[in-house]
Amino acid sequence: MSITTFAVAGATGRLGRHVVDVLTERGHQVVPMSRATGVDIITGQGLAEALTGIEVIIDVASWHSSDQDAATEFFRTSARNLHEASRKAGVAQIAMASIIGADKATAGFLAAKKVHEELLLSGPIPVRILRAAQFHEFVGQLLDWQQGDVAYLPAVPTQLVACRTVAEELVDLATAPAAPGTPIPEIAGPRKEFMAEAAQLLGARRGIKVVGVEGSGMPDAEIAANGGFLPSPHAKLAGPTFEEWLDTQP
Ligand SMILES: NC(=O)c1ccc[n+]([C@@H]2O[C@H](COP(=O)([O-])OP(=O)(O)OC[C@H]3O[C@@H](n4cnc5c(N)ncnc54)[C@H](OP(=O)(O)O)[C@@H]3O)[C@@H](O)[C@H]2O)c1
Repeated sequence: MSITTFAVAGATGRLGRHVVDVLTERGHQVVPMSRATGVDIITGQGLAEALTGIEVIIDVASWHSSDQDAATEFFRTSARNLHEASRKAGVAQIAMASIIGADKATAGFLAAKKVHEELLLSGPIPVRILRAAQFHEFVGQLLDWQQGDVAYLPAVPTQLVACRTVAEELVDLATAPAAPGTPIPEIAGPRKEFMAEAAQLLGARRGIKVVGVEGSGMPDAEIAANGGFLPSPHAKLAGPTFEEWLDTQP
């Protein structure tokens, strides 16, 4: 199938703006959906109009904090609304970004993403999921959430990946037919690193001292510390590394 019309939910976000760029560079028509563009996937405002003539939705909208209950409620409502509006508009497929480890999570934002996956998969429109590692761009948010000149971040292994890399993979997947019986695809960066160490590199630029701590009260700290949220053997690994990416940032 030659898909040409996409709507991107969360088009102004860290990942969403790259998804819009990739689609545009490949010559597709893109309708950006976020509250900033007048489309609210929670209240439904502007949604039916935005989906007129759309063949595929890429859902990269997100809740702004790590609160599990609030995030779950956001994804519950967005999944229901996107399916309902897609059914009415004749959308053929929804592709969504999830997080590596969502299937193993018992708490926190990752557990909310597990619910997000399940609810999207249970709706009437075919859904493709891409699980990504934490974004290079997310490290800055972790620092933003801290107060003062010293940031305490978990010294857990991760395999950070660039949003642009995830966007390219997600756009490929969004137009691929369903592949029953195959594992959910994953995308991660080229090498294992520790979240606190990556944050130290960024912190040095911002004048923030970063201290790595065990667990630091994060949900599922033991699973994370044991590498339980690292990519599966079938994951695609692609650069740039965090350090290479940081060198390209203004
Ligand atoms: N952060 C990571 O490291 C990571 C890793 C793997 C996967 N993911 C997943 O990737 C996706 C994107 O994450 P991100 O970090 O790029 O998110 P983000 O930067 O927080 O962006 C969220 C986007 O959602 C939009 N949005 C929020 N509420 C909305 C509403 N009611 N209606 C319409 N749009 C709304 C926001 O725009 P407005 O505010 O203008 O509405 C924004 O464009 C999420 O599903 C996330 O779980 C994230």
